[in-house]
Amino acid sequence: MSFGRMPIANGFLSPAEFGEEYFYDLSVAFCSDCGMVQLIEQVAPEKMFHENYAFFSSTSTRMATHFKEMADGVMNEYLGSVDPFVVEIGSNDGIMLQHFRQAGHRHLGIEPSLNVAQVAMEKGVQTICRFFDEELASEILAEHGPADAFLGANVMCHIPDIHSVIAGVKLLLKPQGVLIFEDPYLGDIVEKTSYDQIYDEHVFYFSLKSISHLVEQHGLEVIDVRSLGVHGGSMRYVIGHKGARVASESVAALRATEERLGLHRPETYAQLRSNIERSRDELMEQLRQLKAQGKRVVGYGATSKSTTVTNYCGITPDLVEFISDTTPIKQGKFSPGAHIPVRHYQEFEADYPDVALLFAWNHAAEIMAKEESFQGAGGRWLVYTPRVEVLG
Ligand code: SAH
Ligand code: TYD
Repeated sequence: MSFGRMPIANGFLSPAEFGEEYFYDLSVAFCSDCGMVQLIEQVAPEKMFHENYAFFSSTSTRMATHFKEMADGVMNEYLGSVDPFVVEIGSNDGIMLQHFRQAGHRHLGIEPSLNVAQVAMEKGVQTICRFFDEELASEILAEHGPADAFLGANVMCHIPDIHSVIAGVKLLLKPQGVLIFEDPYLGDIVEKTSYDQIYDEHVFYFSLKSISHLVEQHGLEVIDVRSLGVHGGSMRYVIGHKGARVASESVAALRATEERLGLHRPETYAQLRSNIERSRDELMEQLRQLKAQGKRVVGYGATSKSTTVTNYCGITPDLVEFISDTTPIKQGKFSPGAHIPVRHYQEFEADYPDVALLFAWNHAAEIMAKEESFQGAGGRWLVYTPRVEVLG
């Protein structure tokens, strides 16, 4: 399926940059042999991850709690050896590794985006500002020795040369070491029509089947899986050297669920495509009606996901006045492609719109809890996943 010409999802820009904006064809495909769903054209990583990267993990308090829990779980279950060593790729501003640092564990973050890496370093989190691959894995092994745990959240699916990453993990892990990573889950995208997970940074949309197929080629195997509510529905995979650990029952159970969902059948994706087209038509109809009624609509959360929605649906600044966001680097800029102004959260608070289009729907619980006075003032939420509807 093609979503058409698409800009860099996190490429918030100023008017002076409109003329040079980079576009590519956002198309996604399914392989019925290995079960992988992935982008056809891949944007060069250096165009997305650099010294002005706009995504700071610690903007969400829910994610801060989530990663503390993950760190505690890893420490309790997998760091039993003497002087254990933990590696995390895509460690961003240190949201998870800071807990290993505080516990006094040897740790190393690999984070190519310099601005976010610097925030981690200021917290005392050991960080290398590079892209992880097999070559870097052998350098780390030579300098620090093998790892007990190799972690990644919302980063594995970002890396086009995934085989190089898995080969590097294989090299770096101790015999009983584990790779633990989580990413948005294909099953949730299919079930919720959450097509906005599809954008340049997300090269892969993983399932247990595609992950098993991938890691088994490198002498590794999935030993545990856990479904997570974060980021609109994610899956955590625990992977060990083949035969080193006993797989939990959750693995067989998820395999059966994926069969039932039809994740391995092309027809599932034909259906998803028509669900996406219907979602787009309904959202545009809703926005046009609100405009015709003279209602003010403001976007809430200048997410990467919103770049797919605004550009694929054709949402323009006359339909959505501005997007409110708490991230300083995005404020005062314009959204990629659609060029909707991104404004400070205070502007939302100072003059509530009639309707807020919830682009950060994955943080709905956190946001709705803190926006009680918007709702109290008669404000309503427009959501588009799992279906287009105005709440309240
Ligand atoms: N783990 C954090 C950040 C996710 S955003 C969280 O879940 O909130 C993805 C991060 O991966 C970005 O900070 C990006 O710079 C980094 N990244 C991209 N490619 C990478 C690679 N090859 N190796 C390590 N990190 C990478
Ligand atoms: P997020 O959904 O985490 O990521 P992605 O870019 O991967 O789609 O992004 C959340 C965005 O929403 C981020 O720019 C911060 C913003 N935000 C708010 O403005 N207010 C909030 O209360 C929250 C939780 C997020």
